[in-house]
Formats: sequence, structure tokens, C-alpha cells
Amino acid sequence: SAADKGTYPFYMLKEVDEQPAVMRKLVQEYLDEDGRPTIEAGLLNEMKKADRLYIIGAGTSYHAGLVGARMFERLTKIPTQVFISSEFAYEQPIMSEKPFFIFLTQSGETADSREVLVNIKKQGWPSLTITNVPKSTLSREASYTLLLHAGPEIAVASTKAYTAQVALQAILAKALGMTCDQQAATEFDLKQQLGIVAVGMQALVDGKEKLESIASRYLSEPRNAFYIGRGIDWSVALESALKLKEISYVQAEGFASGELKHGTIALIEEHTPVIGIITQDRTAGLTRSNLQEVVSRGASVLTIAAKHLAQPDDTIVLPDVDPLLTPLLSVVPAQLLAYYTSLGKGLDVDKPRNLAKSVTVQ
Ligand code: G6P
Repeated sequence: SAADKGTYPFYMLKEVDEQPAVMRKLVQEYLDEDGRPTIEAGLLNEMKKADRLYIIGAGTSYHAGLVGARMFERLTKIPTQVFISSEFAYEQPIMSEKPFFIFLTQSGETADSREVLVNIKKQGWPSLTITNVPKSTLSREASYTLLLHAGPEIAVASTKAYTAQVALQAILAKALGMTCDQQAATEFDLKQQLGIVAVGMQALVDGKEKLESIASRYLSEPRNAFYIGRGIDWSVALESALKLKEISYVQAEGFASGELKHGTIALIEEHTPVIGIITQDRTAGLTRSNLQEVVSRGASVLTIAAKHLAQPDDTIVLPDVDPLLTPLLSVVPAQLLAYYTSLGKGLDVDKPRNLAKSVTVQ
């Protein structure tokens, strides 16, 4: 069955490997022959009325929302904000006139996210749940549902659900942008781009041995590590750090590259691992100079860079793809680094201490 580990030692590795297939499945489910989104008009018309989109999520789903917000703003021009569900639930910000809520939840059962849904429904506001689990609580209770079609995710550390959430938000943002007559959305050839992503992901998972040796060389000893980036690369840095800490127990922080010098750089010592994510033209040079600053303080620097921005000594080079979709590729080496660090320490990769796959308490 789909929930069978097969020959894999842990579900997490199987789920990382499944990501190219999940990308193709989403194309098949949500884009037609000509690459036009097939998302129901009722949902798009409801979203079009919104003056602001509110994305709500916890953990990895929150991190997927950080990427999604950039996509919605770029392709629809509707202002979009992202909130951690346990924050929004107990301190609702001043709201716009016509909010529309997007709930991101792999399980569809997270109590903190459900608390927000219950509250916003009382206020009469419309909602969409994007989830991997049909008939889950948040799916049943929201006005609309879109399914991730990622197949069962068993490992506690979320991988394929994250990339599915990012890809599906891209499809939804294109669909909504087209409904709002945005040229950038119409011109975005997502079918072709997600095809490039699937091939690129496959190359990254096929090259996993390299990440195993990097993990054992740089991440097996240190107590702490940093992922840094700017803009969308920062959003991926947050998710990358979460992967590393939750399964390998290395204290990892995802940080905005430019903010490092305002305090956190004090933590850099001889051999502190700092992993730079470099996929965007506008910020590549800046992040590179931030990496220079930590090199000169003794850090062991690794880089995950897009091909067109790559330099000869970059650690991992990613295939080029539309700048909005780079998280789908840059996160894969980070997932594998976390996996191999945990594996190398002899830990239970799929069932890290203190964590649950879905958290049904607030
Ligand atoms: C738990 C899991 C995380 C997940 C988070 C949100 O903390 O361990 O992997 O990201 O819940 O779960 P959800 O099902 O709402 O996406």
C-alpha cells in the first residue's frame, strides 16, 4: 500500500523520494492539457472578492504559507498575510473589510488551526482548507477544500506535504490571478515549470549520497547550525532549520542573512555550520557577502545555489526554475541533510522525541 515503507529504512526518506511524483500528480489534478488551472470557479470568485488573504498554519505548514504569501501577492496583487495559528487564535489583529482565510494543514486536525477556523466562522468570514487528508476536521468545517494528493505522510517531519503545499498554492495563486486579470498570472507557465521542478527534484534525490557525506562531515558534531537567506530563501531557511532540529536535535536557526550582523553573528564560532540559500538574482550578492562575514569568524560555510547564480565552490547547485518556485528545489537538500544527520546519530528519524505527527491539543 501507499503507507508501506517498502525497502526504505525510514518513511521520511521514502517521502522525500516521492516528491517528484507528487509534483506530477498536482499538475495532473489541477492543470488541464493547456496548463489552465481547473480550480472551481465558485472558490475563485469568492476569493476574488477579498481585499486581503490571511494564511493560517502551524509548524511546517506555516512555513509553506510564508512562501505562498509571496506567490499570492506577486500573481494576484491581493495583500496577503501569514499567521501562526496559535498566535492568531488568541490575539486577532485588526482585520480588513473582506478577509478570506486559507488554512494550511497536512493532517487537517491541528487544534490551534481549528481554533482559528471556529472563531472566524463565527464572524462570518469565508475559508479554504488546503490539506492532505480528505474528510479531516478542518476540511469538513471550512467553506472550501483543496487536497494535496501527496499520499499518506507518516514520518513526523513533514517533507512531501510541504512541497505539495507550496506547489498547490502556486497553482491557486495563478488561478486567482487569472480570475483577477493579472498578466503575470496568465503568463506564468506553471505546467512547464512544475515539470522542470519534478525533474530537478529527481536529480537532487538521485544525488543523495553527496548529502550523506556532507551531513557526516559538517553536522554530526556541532550543537548548533544556521540556515540563512533573504526573501523567499529566508522562508526556506526557516523550514530547513526546523527539519534539522526536529529530527537531529541540532539547535538550528533559520535567519534573514542581512539581520545576522545585528546580534546573532555573536554565536558564530570556529566550525559553526552556516548554510546559505542563494536562488534570487536581487539578493544573491548580498547573501554571499553575509557568508563572507561568517567565514571570517571561522564558520564552516555550505551553499545551496541556483545554477545561474552558482560559483565554482558551491556545495549544492540547483537546476534553474521560476524564481517563485525555487523553494520546491532548495528545500530538498535541507530535508536530506536533516535525514542523514539524524540517521548518522542513530536516532529514530520517523519518531523524534517529544513530537507528534498531528497535535490535537492547544
Ligand atoms: C506537528 C507536526 C509538524 C506539522 C505541524 C502542523 O507539529 O509534527 O510536522 O508541521 O504539526 O501540522 P498540520 O497537520 O496542521 O500541517
